[in-house]
Amino acid sequence: MRELFRLYKYAKPYKWILLFGFSLILLDGLLGTIPPLFFVFVVDHVLATQHITQPELTHEFGLFGVTFFKMTFSPERWLLNVFIAFVSFHAFTGVLSFVRTIVMTWASNRVLFDMRNEVFSHVQDLSMRFFDTQGTGQIMSRITGDVNNLSGLITDTTINIIRDFVMMFAMLFILFSKSWVLSALALSIMPAYILTNRIFVQKMKRVWRLLRHKWAEIYGGLYEAVAGAKVVKAFGQEKHEEKKAFHSMRQTYHYQIRANTLNTAMQSILSLLQSVGFGLVMWWGGRFVVRDAAVADGFTLGAMILFNSYLGRMYGPIMNLVSVNTTIQSALVSSERVFGLLDSEPTVEEKEDAYPLPSIEGRVKFDNVHFSYDPEKPVLRGINFEAQSDMMIALVGPSGCGKTTVINLLARFYDPVDGAILIDGHNLRDVTLRSLRNQIGVVLQESILFKGSIAENIRYGKLDATDQDVVQAAIDANAHKFISEDLAEGYETDVGERGGRLSGGQRQRIAIARTILRDPRLLILDEATSALDTHSEAAIQDALERLMKGRTTFVIAHRLSTVLKADKIIVMKEGQIEEMGPHAELLELDGMYAEMFNKQFRIQEREDDWLKG
Ligand SMILES: Nc1ncnc2c1ncn2[C@@H]1O[C@H](COP(=O)(O)OP(=O)(O)OP(=O)(O)O)[C@@H](O)[C@H]1O
Ligand SMILES: [Mg+2]
Repeated sequence: MRELFRLYKYAKPYKWILLFGFSLILLDGLLGTIPPLFFVFVVDHVLATQHITQPELTHEFGLFGVTFFKMTFSPERWLLNVFIAFVSFHAFTGVLSFVRTIVMTWASNRVLFDMRNEVFSHVQDLSMRFFDTQGTGQIMSRITGDVNNLSGLITDTTINIIRDFVMMFAMLFILFSKSWVLSALALSIMPAYILTNRIFVQKMKRVWRLLRHKWAEIYGGLYEAVAGAKVVKAFGQEKHEEKKAFHSMRQTYHYQIRANTLNTAMQSILSLLQSVGFGLVMWWGGRFVVRDAAVADGFTLGAMILFNSYLGRMYGPIMNLVSVNTTIQSALVSSERVFGLLDSEPTVEEKEDAYPLPSIEGRVKFDNVHFSYDPEKPVLRGINFEAQSDMMIALVGPSGCGKTTVINLLARFYDPVDGAILIDGHNLRDVTLRSLRNQIGVVLQESILFKGSIAENIRYGKLDATDQDVVQAAIDANAHKFISEDLAEGYETDVGERGGRLSGGQRQRIAIARTILRDPRLLILDEATSALDTHSEAAIQDALERLMKGRTTFVIAHRLSTVLKADKIIVMKEGQIEEMGPHAELLELDGMYAEMFNKQFRIQEREDDWLKG
C-alpha cells in the first residue's frame, strides 16, 4: 500500500491543476443529485391535484428550512420555467464536465509522460547484469502496460471514487431527510448486494489472474515466433508453433468464457436484488403516499419518484466503491512491477567521488581479476596481464573460455568480483563511466545496428560528426564501396530493425565505421571479422590495421592468421591464462598455442591445396 503513496510523487508537480480538477469533480458529484429534483418539483408542486385548479402557484426556494426567495407563476408558466431551468442546468454541467475532462486528461497524460520517461531513463542506466536476467517482454510490458495502469489509478480511479462518494452521501442525506424508514428499507438489500459482489469477484479474480498469466505467456511465445520466423521456417516447425499457440489460446478461451459466465451470473443476481430494492420502495413508499394523501405535507408522490431515481443512481457508484478494491489490487501488482524496476540499482555503479578519466595513453593492467556471471560458476579465475600503450593484444582460446568476458570487464559492463582493472593506473571503479566509455571503442561479436539510415548508424559513434567524417569512416572501414554502389539509396538506405536488411558482413563493416568515427584510444574488436569472407576480411584487416595504429587494441579472433602480428597473445583456457607472449615465443614453447596454430595451419594448407586443385 505504501507504494501507492509513492505514486503521488508524480502527481505533485501538477497539484494545483489536479486540485482544480478535483474540485470540479466534487461539484460534478454534488450536481449529479439535482436532475431528479426537477421531476419531483413538477410532480409535487405543479401537477399535484390540489394545485391544478389554482390560477397562481407560489414556491419557496431554500435549503435546510431557510427560505431564500419566493416566486409566483401560473402552473403553465411553471412548466415552461422548469423546462428552461432543466436545459440550462444541463448546459452548465455539460460545460463543467468538458472543462473537467480536459483538465484531468491533460494532468493524467503529463503524469504518465513523466513516469514513463523516468522509468525509461532508469532502465537506460541499469547495468548489463539486469538485462541478462530480465526478459525483453518483461521490461517492455513494465514501461508500457504497467505504467499505464498506474497513472490510471492516480486519475481515473481517484476521480470515480471521489465523485461516487460525494454523490452517494449527498443522495443518502436527502433520502434520509425525506424518510429514514424508507431509506433503511431501500438499503436493506445492500448487505446481500455487497456480499454477492464480493463472492463473485473473488472467483473472477482467480480466473483473471490465470488469464493475465496466460496472455503474458502467449505474448512471449508470439514474440519469439515472429522474431525467430526464420528459424521456425528453416526447421519447418510452423505446425509445431501453431499447435503451441493453439493450446495456449484454447485455454484463454476457456478462461474467458468462465469469467464471462461468472460475470453474467453476478449481474443477474445483482439486478434481482436491485428489483427487490425498487419493489420495496414502490410497496412501502406507495403505502406512505396512500396513507398521507389525506394528511397535507407528508410523504409525497414526488418523494417516491425521488427514491426511485436516486436508488437507480446509487447502485452503480456503490458497486464502483466495492470494486475499487479490485482496481487497487491490480494497480498494486503494477506498482510492484514498476517500482521494482525503479528500485533496481545499477550493479555497476559510479562512486560518489568518481572523477573523469583523463585523456588516456592506453596502458591496461588486469590485477588478479576474478569474475562470475552466476555466483556458483566462476568464469574468470585470476587473470593477470599488462598491456603497454599502442600494443596490440590478442585473446585466443576455445569457445566459452572467457575472452568476451575479459573485454566486458575492460569496458566495465560488469565489475570484477575480485581484483582490479587499471587503465593508465586509474582503477576503473574510481572513474566515471562516461569518461571511460568515451575513450573506448567496441566492435562486438554480434554488431547491432538501430533502425534508421546507414548515415545515422555510423554517426551514432559521434553525434556531431559531419557528413564528410561519416563518409571517411565508411571508406576506412571498407564499407563505402558497397554503400555507394550496391545500395540504391546510398547513405540514406534504411537498415531495418536491428540492421536486418543488411548482410552480416555489411552490418559488421558499418559497426566498424561507427567505431572508427569515435576515434577511441582503446579499441576492442570481438571477432570483428568473423562475419566476412577471406577477401573482405583482408580488406577489413587493412582498415583495422590503419585503425589500430597509435592505439591500444584488444583483438579476439578464432583465425590465428589475424593474430600473428599481435605484440602479445594471451592464450586462455577455462577462465585462466594458459600462455602469454608474442607468436614466435609461443610457438617455441610448443604448448597449447603451438597445437592450435599447427592444427589451423594444416587446415589452411589443405584448403590452399584444394583451391589449387
Ligand atoms: N551474460 C551471461 N550470463 C551468464 N553467463 C554467461 C554470460 N555471458 C557468458 N556467460 C558464460 O561465461 C562463459 C564465458 O563466456 P564468454 O562469452 O566470455 O566466452 P568466449 O571465450 O567469448 O567464447 P566465444 O569464443 O564462443 O565467443 C561461458 O561459459 C558462458 O556460458
Ligand atoms: Mg566471445
